Amino acid sequence: MKIGMLTSGGDCQGLNSALRGVAKALYYRFGKDVEIYGIRDGYRGLIYGDIQKMNPKDFSGILTLGGTILGTSRQSFKTMCTPLEEFGGKTKLDKMLETCKKYKFDCLVILGGNGTHKTANLLAQNGINVVSLPKTIDNDLWGTDMTFGFQSAVDIATNVIDCIHSTATSHGRVFIVEVMGHKVGWLTLHAGISGGADVILIPEIPYDVDKVCSVLQKRKKNGKAFSILAVAEGAMSKEEAAMSKKEFKAARASMKEPSISYRLANEITERTGQEIRVTIPGHFQRGGSPCAYDRILTTRFGTAAAEMIANKQFGRMVAIHNNEITSVPLEEVAGKLKTVSPDCDEIRAAKALGISMGI
Ligand code: F6P
Repeated sequence: MKIGMLTSGGDCQGLNSALRGVAKALYYRFGKDVEIYGIRDGYRGLIYGDIQKMNPKDFSGILTLGGTILGTSRQSFKTMCTPLEEFGGKTKLDKMLETCKKYKFDCLVILGGNGTHKTANLLAQNGINVVSLPKTIDNDLWGTDMTFGFQSAVDIATNVIDCIHSTATSHGRVFIVEVMGHKVGWLTLHAGISGGADVILIPEIPYDVDKVCSVLQKRKKNGKAFSILAVAEGAMSKEEAAMSKKEFKAARASMKEPSISYRLANEITERTGQEIRVTIPGHFQRGGSPCAYDRILTTRFGTAAAEMIANKQFGRMVAIHNNEITSVPLEEVAGKLKTVSPDCDEIRAAKALGISMGI
């Protein structure tokens, strides 16, 4: 049996432990009857045939290693079916199908997030046996309660808020911590709650800057000189939410500040005179070792993927529902986002504590 493995899209913690989970379970079960091929840099390696045969020892000692031993890249789904001159009029999809045929892969194991799953589904629709694993620090993949990488990123972002808390308290300052997440706010919501933020702003709930200011002023009046705002990089104001896509893009393009947090900081200062500091941990949130939860989750996902390969259950993504490992069809996952519902349990809990969601 020949298996090709690739990691695609933005990296996150747990990619290596997931690869290890799949590979070790396959080698343990099939011994010499399985050959695993590592495809370099995600779909790029599949398009260009940048592939190497792996050995069991390649998957040893990587449980705690951050990043991905296979490398990764972002390959836009939109370009997959465009004929390209460099390929003599063939598409990237054609090239990937040719590579699969050349290597006689019995299955492709694909580790990725949203964009990756659209292409994984496309490959499956074109006759390739695919088993996929849900990765992303954003936890925004449809069809699974949890993606791996998310809990590790929550730990890091929480730690940032904890550290900011102590300096904010000492100086009586207001701080904004900008958390990753362009389209969805799971990471900001969880880090904000676990770090004890006073205001949490996420893309799904457009904020009212006057409401945010009144929260800060009320806290000050009540003797709390410091405040912490956890703000998603994709947070938007209620005025922006009312704009068309085109207007929004133009408004953001003309924004003089480098990110939404700096703009918000300026707006708050203009309105209240309060000094604001901004901290952006950025890609730090995707780095380093997976937390214990992600090590266990990736081991469960990886071994389940191996089981699916053994049972020839293709065209599916491994998932977790109510703490049970299961799987969902790729066509159900592709192209859908799991966003934060404004009445979800976490938001109800945050509101019950008096945390402001900026409205
Ligand atoms: O999807 C993971 C993620 O880290 C998002 O949270 C973030 O918006 C984006 O990737 C950043 O992308 P890049 O690594 O290409 O800068």
